[in-house]
Amino acid sequence: MRGLMDKIKKIVVYDADTEFYAKVFPDSVTKKDLVRIRTMTHADLPYVLTIEHENYEFPWEKDIFIDCFNAGYYCWVCDYEDQVLGYCLMSMAVGEAHLLNISVAAKEQKQGLARKMLEHIIATAQGKAETLFLEVRPSNVGAIALYEDMGFNEIGIRKGYYPAKYGREDAIMLALELL
Ligand SMILES: CC(C)(COP(=O)(O)OP(=O)(O)OC[C@H]1O[C@@H](n2cnc3c(N)ncnc32)[C@H](O)[C@@H]1OP(=O)(O)O)[C@@H](O)C(=O)NCCC(=O)NCCS
Repeated sequence: MRGLMDKIKKIVVYDADTEFYAKVFPDSVTKKDLVRIRTMTHADLPYVLTIEHENYEFPWEKDIFIDCFNAGYYCWVCDYEDQVLGYCLMSMAVGEAHLLNISVAAKEQKQGLARKMLEHIIATAQGKAETLFLEVRPSNVGAIALYEDMGFNEIGIRKGYYPAKYGREDAIMLALELL
């Protein structure tokens, strides 16, 4: 029974109290409180890809998400009443965690959903890795503001890391110490 409960918890990160308060005091909870972060499945991919194409000029295609599944990376969606509002993916290897992608549907941004996913990512990585790394385009001021607010520090620049309209764009490398 305990094993089954752990399995269920791994699939769905869910706070039952929040749903109770949402019913009794609907104004007391926000969408951020009500979303569930759960493991991404193949069935989520059409919704994930729609957001991916909406948000990025050079989006990941389906095969990259499937490679992430096959590699055993952590792949989650942010689910609100069975709708995918966002997603995030993280790899983990010998003490290093790497945030590979985090994205929120354009019309659902600025409600704290990315912050909630990042908190979940950090909580998962804590105890398994010493550092959480990520790359971000210098032009992505919103994402940089989010990462700095969550305690990430700049540790370097990767030259020509991203494809760009004309040539390549550098990446800022950020890191968060988890210990
Ligand atoms: C970056 C992104 C994931 C943020 O998602 P979000 O759900 O809107 O972010 P949140 O609402 O959780 O914001 C948390 C904090 O991030 C910062 N932030 C987020 N978007 C911002 C923006 N456009 N401008 C300035 N700061 C921003 C703020 O500090 C915000 O805190 P506040 O609301 O208390 O001011 C979202 O804009 C997105 O999906 N962008 C396209 C994909 C992308 O660029 N991903 C990152 C790749 S490295």
